[in-house]
Amino acid sequence: FRVDMDASAADKGTYPFYMLKEVDEQPVVMRKLVQEYLDTDGSPVIEPELLSRMQQADKLYVVGAGTSYHAGLIGARLFERLTGIPTQVFISSEFAYEQPIMSKKPFFIFLTQSGETADSREVLVNVKKQGWPTLTITNVPKSTLSREATFTLLLHAGPEIAVASTKAYTAQVALQAILAKGLGMAMRKQLAIDFDVKQQLGLVAVGMQAIVDSKDQLESVAARYLAQPRNAFYIGRGIDWSVALESALKLKEISYVQAEGFASGELKHGTIALIEDKTPVIGIITQDRTAGLTRSNLQEVVSRGASVLTIASKHLAQPDDTIVLPDVDELLTPLLSVVPAQLLAYYTSLGKGLDVDKPRNLAKSVTVQ
Ligand code: G6P
Repeated sequence: FRVDMDASAADKGTYPFYMLKEVDEQPVVMRKLVQEYLDTDGSPVIEPELLSRMQQADKLYVVGAGTSYHAGLIGARLFERLTGIPTQVFISSEFAYEQPIMSKKPFFIFLTQSGETADSREVLVNVKKQGWPTLTITNVPKSTLSREATFTLLLHAGPEIAVASTKAYTAQVALQAILAKGLGMAMRKQLAIDFDVKQQLGLVAVGMQAIVDSKDQLESVAARYLAQPRNAFYIGRGIDWSVALESALKLKEISYVQAEGFASGELKHGTIALIEDKTPVIGIITQDRTAGLTRSNLQEVVSRGASVLTIASKHLAQPDDTIVLPDVDELLTPLLSVVPAQLLAYYTSLGKGLDVDKPRNLAKSVTVQ
């Protein structure tokens, strides 16, 4: 049984598909989150009771499915870096049936655009039975997972109609950054105090706008490199790897290109055998510590005939990079690096004449386990 969100709540306007509209809305969503959750002085405005419950935790458990799981992978890094609380991310359908050995004082964060995903709800129901505190981060007020959790934070992204999630992903990442900043500040962590999330999300909004304004370039890259091949790879290390997973999912979902997101350093341990002449390999390069390593992994696939594309932050960019991203704090680069990947998926799907918003076999909200 599947439910679609009420499409009448949003108008496509002049856009051919909701997905493109939703990609374009991302700068506005960033500004909306700043407005909803940050003070004039840049301090997060978050229910003190939520922060105090989180502060008491010895470990944060982040749970989600699909794109929301991928947003959780970024969130875990933000929470660990800014609060020092160990954080682990779980695919909801795995956690539901294989509960790991728990820490003494867990705190659960559910990420779910719709607030209705059955796999995630199953975990919430079990966790509640065990008496642990829960937070749902969702786009839909009064949704099931929102009603059933101890706390809710809303994404304020506006209705997301396209099956492939875009603005909900970036909203989830941004809101987790705000929450991590708020929690870290409450814990007097210097890194959190110094992290100017308000200023950074302002830069992110401007950067996103620049990327969506250059969509014509992405349309031609998609036509040239992604229209023909049956498979493709996104690679990166650390946070760039997490974005590679989401980027590959976008491409799979709507263009039916078999795509994989891979840890760049792991490629050579088997998967590189799949690289053939003109296999597209897209490297994501936004982190100082790992940029050089990912570049050498790209060299390894070039010499096996791959068509290499790059999405690189400006300060790490080289002259022949495909897409250059404006610089923002290293913790927030996923908010920019994912946008070209969303657009590459969109234009690949469009070029193939597929139904971008309603890909085969998929539903916006999956209410079966
Ligand atoms: C479905 C959608 C995905 C989404 C996932 C989780 O599979 O097609 O786009 O990421 O559900 O949905 P949720 O609403 O829980 O974020």
